[in-house]
Amino acid sequence: MNTYKAKIDVKINHLEVDKTAFEIVKNQLTHKQDSVLILPTGGTQIGWYKLIVEAYKNREVDFEKATIFNLDEYYPLNKNNPSSYYSYMRRNLIDHVNIKPENWHIPNCEAETSEEAVSEYQNLLNQQKQIDLAVLGIGPAATCHIGFNEQGSDENSKTRYVILDEQTSFANSVYFENEKDMPKGAITMGISDILKAGKIILLAKGREKAWGVQRSVLGPINNEAPASHLRFHPEVTFILDQEAASLL
Ligand code: F6R
Repeated sequence: MNTYKAKIDVKINHLEVDKTAFEIVKNQLTHKQDSVLILPTGGTQIGWYKLIVEAYKNREVDFEKATIFNLDEYYPLNKNNPSSYYSYMRRNLIDHVNIKPENWHIPNCEAETSEEAVSEYQNLLNQQKQIDLAVLGIGPAATCHIGFNEQGSDENSKTRYVILDEQTSFANSVYFENEKDMPKGAITMGISDILKAGKIILLAKGREKAWGVQRSVLGPINNEAPASHLRFHPEVTFILDQEAASLL
């Protein structure tokens, strides 16, 4: 596989990161109404979701023909738990725009077995002829995860059940009212699924992401830094605030 230099776009602050991501998604939907998007959850993304909901209310963007695939979901979990990614997506996007229910996909955290959830999701992904844009965040501390592809994930990885890295569990436990309710695992799209997108943007904010960004952009491409595998893709842009870019 060829490797490429990731494009780096450093913004003056986190609000400019939000604006840039918002513009990219809005332009994508304007130029191709039936775009297929891969979307993430997480604290980093909330700002641009707000902007796109506002734009929808002002009739500047339309989700009528769009399709959304979420990157990942905890497993097992009640989907109506406020900390599920299903709830996050409804709260921050889905309930506020005109996406058709049948066009929004997220791994089923209530499936009887993880195998069932995985094969159902992989089949749906495999049916997509084209994925236009993937929006990503990067995991906390040294994980360098994308989706929940933790350290050890390779570029050929597919949708699967994974055990969360300790650093991920620690960082994400703040989102659970009762820490003990946080699942130990998740279903994630694989890196090979993400690399199928025509265009990829990764957003990172804050000093705590600086090491992971540097490792993924400038370090060796290997499974120790799953986000480094993005450099197998010719159209990847890391959109960073100054803190996240501070080690580049
Ligand atoms: C979540 C996801 C994760 C997050 C990452 C960063 O759907 O794909 O890879 O993007 O854990 O999360 P935040 O933005 O909360 O720092």
